[in-house]
Amino acid sequence: MKLLDIIKQRRSVRNFLSRPVEREKIMLCLEAARLAPSACNSQPWKFVIVDDEETKGRLSRAAFSGVYSMTSFAKKAPLIVAVVSEKAKFSERIGGLIRDTRFYLIDIGIATEHFVLQAEELGLGTCWIGWFDEGAVKKILNVPRDRRVDVLLAVGYYDKGKLGQPHKRDSLEEIAAFNSY
Ligand SMILES: Cc1cc2nc3c(=O)[nH]c(=O)nc-3n(C[C@H](O)[C@H](O)[C@H](O)COP(=O)(O)O)c2cc1C
Repeated sequence: MKLLDIIKQRRSVRNFLSRPVEREKIMLCLEAARLAPSACNSQPWKFVIVDDEETKGRLSRAAFSGVYSMTSFAKKAPLIVAVVSEKAKFSERIGGLIRDTRFYLIDIGIATEHFVLQAEELGLGTCWIGWFDEGAVKKILNVPRDRRVDVLLAVGYYDKGKLGQPHKRDSLEEIAAFNSY
């Protein structure tokens, strides 16, 4: 499939089938993420794949409850990916300070979307998750205190016939301009 067709086909998936995801497919998604660009080639990411039922159960119960229970659809995902933001290279951090930009968030965004698009090509659905209990996730996955888990991904097979309408997007005229804002 052409890249633009994969991009057009992708939606956030919140209903997953119980079918397990093959390790080979996960490895391809990880390879796509690994090859992502990053400021100063800092590669400030580590993807923790949670596919063990017991760990995933503990993680989902802790991460998606209370104020975060609106994300509880992710409990049924066959796997959860915790995107750990690693310490960026010194040059990236200095550059970010001078520019007043958190380049590491841009970096993990690109790498995670590489993962997502590769997953889509392999027939897997994904949903980015920003609404979860980060402290609980870090504790259960043994993530060091000085690291962040800014996003999770829910990943799995899904029933393509049951997807809703695609979300609306702004028009090209609204989002782009040539030569002047
Ligand atoms: C950084 C980020 C965080 C998100 N967090 C959540 C979330 O916590 N829960 C959720 O249901 N969807 C979440 N989403 C999915 C968005 O709601 C979704 O991408 C958007 O509504 C567009 O819909 P589409 O992905 O189906 O095109 C998140 C997406 C991004 C990029």
